[in-house]
Amino acid sequence: MFNNDTLKGRTALITGGGTGLGLEIATAYARLGASVMLVGRNEERVQAAAETLNRDGVKAAAAKCDVRNYDEVKAAVEGTVKQFGSLDILINNAAGNFVCPTSELSPNGFRTVIDIDLNGTFYGCHAAYPHLKASKHGGSIISIITMLGVTGWPGAAHAASAKGGILSLSRTLAVEWGGDGIRVNTISPGPIGDTEGVQRMYIDAGKGDLEAKKTALGRFGAKVDIANAAVYLASDLAGYVTGENLIVDGGRWLKYVAA
Ligand code: COA
Repeated sequence: MFNNDTLKGRTALITGGGTGLGLEIATAYARLGASVMLVGRNEERVQAAAETLNRDGVKAAAAKCDVRNYDEVKAAVEGTVKQFGSLDILINNAAGNFVCPTSELSPNGFRTVIDIDLNGTFYGCHAAYPHLKASKHGGSIISIITMLGVTGWPGAAHAASAKGGILSLSRTLAVEWGGDGIRVNTISPGPIGDTEGVQRMYIDAGKGDLEAKKTALGRFGAKVDIANAAVYLASDLAGYVTGENLIVDGGRWLKYVAA
């Protein structure tokens, strides 16, 4: 669908890049000409993913990084620039979540998810800023959120608060950093059937059919649907798009509002 050189000459850093949506985005980017740095808490996992990509003849590397630790995020950013010569695209994809009624959620449980999702996204943006500003293509930040961060997410107050915060952070940075040539956008995936999160939270819990029917299209999405959106937003095709939240949810949120 995209030309093979759509992202040629660009370098992308993807947090949570070893599995799921992060790896799908990294794979799409690499196949379209980008160099990709995969970072995650589990070093073996990101290294294995990068080696698999390299066997396909694309440029990939990996580093251990817990996005809750600013020093590790900064080191990952600097390592990316050292290895590939630039940083043009930042994908804030790393996330943590679990279902827990708020009355039973401990302060540490709330803080843990805020630390991973919201603080981790801020750390990535902050550490990447000077390099994105220097990008000859114009920098691009894409953060993965969910419309449940806008509507509210009963049973996941921590993740809802974090995702809503990331949306607001992204719109703020879109304005603050627009003059530096940096575009800042978010993607709101709906239920993506081939992810660990949907498998665990919906399918394993016996709620797969029910959740699929909550979308306007009546089915789960696939990881590639999100990767395609991430390619578009990072590319010159979206050169005038910033501060946008691209909803890729099969019409789930509209059906929710219309009900
Ligand atoms: N229900 C209630 N509280 C929970 C919980 C659950 N299912 N899972 C974690 N917590 C609480 C812990 O009890 C702890 O709080 P406490 O110290 O007051 O007891 C706090 O959250 C931190 O838990 P801990 O296990 O030490 O954190 P961690 O850093 O090892 O892992 C997550 C945090 C979010 C990554 C972990 O819960 C997890 O692995 N989730 C599933 C995988 C995932 O999130 N995938 C991403 C899908 S979007």
